[in-house]
Amino acid sequence: MDQALFSAVDEFVTETIVGEDEALRGAVEAAETAGLPAIQVSPPQGKLLALLVRLVGARMILEFGTLGGYSAILMARALPEDGKLISLEANSDYAEVARRSIEAAGVGEKVEVRVGPALEALPALEEEGAGPFDLVFIDADKVNTPNYFAWALDHTRSGSLIVADNVVRDGTLADAHDADEATQAQRHLHEMLKDEPRVDATTIQTVGVKGYDGFLVALVERA
Ligand code: SAH
Ligand code: DHB
Ligand code: MG
Repeated sequence: MDQALFSAVDEFVTETIVGEDEALRGAVEAAETAGLPAIQVSPPQGKLLALLVRLVGARMILEFGTLGGYSAILMARALPEDGKLISLEANSDYAEVARRSIEAAGVGEKVEVRVGPALEALPALEEEGAGPFDLVFIDADKVNTPNYFAWALDHTRSGSLIVADNVVRDGTLADAHDADEATQAQRHLHEMLKDEPRVDATTIQTVGVKGYDGFLVALVERA
């Protein structure tokens, strides 16, 4: 592992083709000042999310795990004017920081941050008839990633994307005996998708400022 090199490449890519404007830097700063952990997607990863939003022509996005709103801002900006993003966040202090940064970034109209454990927020979404979502980004408590994925599968359409962050976890994904429940949950997710006819998926390993991890991308294809 050469963390300095991974970070240097992320910095070069960010300075050249990705970019990070004042509002995004402000969101990172506000989060840092408020004592939030710096675990938001990296600028290059966030740019990929924004590109995926545009690629699927998403109008409705569901995010699990808002933190300081960094990924939400990037995805919301990639939505059309009348697009909408609902982001679920367990921590009310984090949600408040996120709402301010989202507003400051000019996408307050498109983004709704809901406070509470995501699993508890899902029945209300269901009752409201929310969705189908065109893109679901799963990035909250990792033990529940398979549960969020299962819900997402029932609330997306053919052509939707489901993206799950942090599935590789320093390569522990490959270790059947890893003691970490979060890692076992990602293994379970992969096993689930092995026999799931409703998605076609892959996992891409990543290195960068956040170390060695990876994300799963699944295309929903229903008959
Ligand atoms: N998507 C964000 C990063 C999210 S970090 C970004 O890239 O900018 C993970 C977030 O999930 C944290 O803010 C954490 O508070 C939240 N979280 C943890 N458990 C949760 C739960 N059960 N329901 C909803 N959010 C949860
Ligand atoms: C953690 C959460 C994330 O979503 C991430 O991308 C990295 C780390 C964490 O909870 O430590
Ligand atoms: Mg993450």
